[in-house]
Amino acid sequence: MSRTVPTELSGCAEKLIRGRHATRAFRPEPVPEDTMRRIFSLAGTAPSNSNAQPWRVEVVSGAARQRLAGALQTAHAEGRTSVDFPYSEKMYAQVHQTRRAAFGAELYGALGIGPDDHTARAAYDSQSLGFYGAPHAAFLFVHGDGEARLAADAGAYLQTLLLAMTAYGVDSCPQGLLSFYADTVRTELRVTGGKLLVGISFGYADEAAPVNQVRTERAPLESTTAFHD
Ligand SMILES: Cc1cc2nc3c(=O)[nH]c(=O)nc-3n(C[C@H](O)[C@H](O)[C@H](O)COP(=O)(O)O)c2cc1C
Repeated sequence: MSRTVPTELSGCAEKLIRGRHATRAFRPEPVPEDTMRRIFSLAGTAPSNSNAQPWRVEVVSGAARQRLAGALQTAHAEGRTSVDFPYSEKMYAQVHQTRRAAFGAELYGALGIGPDDHTARAAYDSQSLGFYGAPHAAFLFVHGDGEARLAADAGAYLQTLLLAMTAYGVDSCPQGLLSFYADTVRTELRVTGGKLLVGISFGYADEAAPVNQVRTERAPLESTTAFHD
């Protein structure tokens, strides 16, 4: 087998991609506006099928962020969920369920929440809907009727955005949970059109929070990737 020849970007890419982690406790300081513009501009360079760029992003800060967090927590308390992309536990194969369970045990362990403590989990969901204290949140909407195919483009955008944030020293957490309140987000932000795929809380990590020490592993290369000659 031939040897790897690194380019000048290889080391940066290793650091950047492996250096991104989900953050679930933030400090309140906002991200400077110029930094935000650079990040979202960089994210917009994500690839998409035929360069359609079928995404639209709504970013909330300040009073809009406060109002939306309040509305989401009220919707949660009243059990008013609404999804644009259907969700079911059944969509996961057993091997994926096993990985999810391992991650859940790790996360809730770090939070000191027991597996059957449904009250504490519901309280944590409410905290999650407050963006874990992050000063900003972005909502990623997919436009068009292509469903999974267009969601793939939005997925490419999502990872590009997360890496752009990491590159500018901004911490983030993609949150599928936020998409369970699609109607609330739409109403509060007066958004028409599009389907809400995911929200992203972002800002600067509270490094002292135990939940931010959680690190996830990945399946070995051989179990996810086949090389054919
Ligand atoms: C589409 C998507 C939705 C996610 N939803 C949530 C969520 O609702 N709550 C949460 O705490 N983390 C959420 N995450 C973060 C994952 O749990 C995290 O990315 C995964 O465990 C791997 O950990 P890492 O990001 O630290 O590498 C989500 C990630 C993605 C990509």
